[in-house]
Amino acid sequence: AADIDLAVIAGDGIGPEVVAEGLKVLEAVTAGSGTKVSSTAYDLGATRWNATGETLPHSVLDELRGHDAILLGAIGDPSVPSGVLERGILLPLRFALDHFVNLRPAKLYPGVESPLAIERVAPDGIDFVVVREGTEGPYVGNGGSLRAGTPHEIATEVSVNTRFGVERVVREAFARAQARPRRHLTLVHKHNVLTHAGHLWRRTVDEVGAEFPDVETAYQHVDAATIFLVTDPGRFDVIVTDNLFGDIITDIAAAIAGGIGLAASGNINPTGESPSMFEPVHGSAPDIAGQGVADPTATILSVAMLLEHLGRTDEAARVEAAVAADLAQRGSAARTTSAIGDAVAARLS
Ligand code: IPM
Ligand code: MN
Repeated sequence: AADIDLAVIAGDGIGPEVVAEGLKVLEAVTAGSGTKVSSTAYDLGATRWNATGETLPHSVLDELRGHDAILLGAIGDPSVPSGVLERGILLPLRFALDHFVNLRPAKLYPGVESPLAIERVAPDGIDFVVVREGTEGPYVGNGGSLRAGTPHEIATEVSVNTRFGVERVVREAFARAQARPRRHLTLVHKHNVLTHAGHLWRRTVDEVGAEFPDVETAYQHVDAATIFLVTDPGRFDVIVTDNLFGDIITDIAAAIAGGIGLAASGNINPTGESPSMFEPVHGSAPDIAGQGVADPTATILSVAMLLEHLGRTDEAARVEAAVAADLAQRGSAARTTSAIGDAVAARLS
């Protein structure tokens, strides 16, 4: 098998702790396959910003482009003003590397408790994936303020939706729906209020849908979607939505599927023109950093997504199965970060 040349951005807080377990599992699943995993560490995040004022230097971005994939832990710290690292590192990475598919699966594994009443979860279970657009919407930073600090201040954040950007993510969502047993795609938007963008998304789903006649489609306004996510999550198979709606509903999705400690994600460029980046949905959790108590499962599942993206389907499935087996017998006893990584890795050897 080909070697894996990884860029690793461990980041802040619990980032380095969970990334270490992700790499441990990656080593374990590839051991004996002849694959050499090499990882190059890049220090980006609060520490670097505090020391040098740098966020994402051009030279680092250029180097990142040369790797097969990026594994990211978490970025953020209370010592840095809100928005600096988001607008300076995470979003520039997603934009510059054109990660237009932000893939966020929500799956309730056996043995994992959902905060939803059991009858809400059964009989269909929770097993859907959100295809969140990753490069447009209100995230583009197309906004400004007028008369700041006065009683007449006006602040705008313009949501940018291009036909090109919407079409490519919608096509990807259809392809993913087509490949799943249920073949069902729900567009989540708010076309009754956001009429311009909403109609672009709707029309695009209708038009691209003609290429996928065996995928059934549905539409839900985002507010209604939040209701169904907690009252009837079994109805969802693949959801496609814009960047901001996707941000919000994937936190709900993580919560109903056992919590943010289990939620994995991929920032994917399906064209392969630049490396995709895999990261747990959770943040840097500075309150528990350095204690060895963070759950590395979301990072380990992100490693499974990374393997899948690199076409290493078998290894991806083995990692997911090892995590599922670990979750099934986890119980309520607290385990350390490294104990969970060790247990998953042991199942792979
Ligand atoms: C996420 C995060 C980011 C986002 C922030 C940190 C910029 O909330 O990955 O969901 O809004 O996308
Ligand atoms: Mn988020």
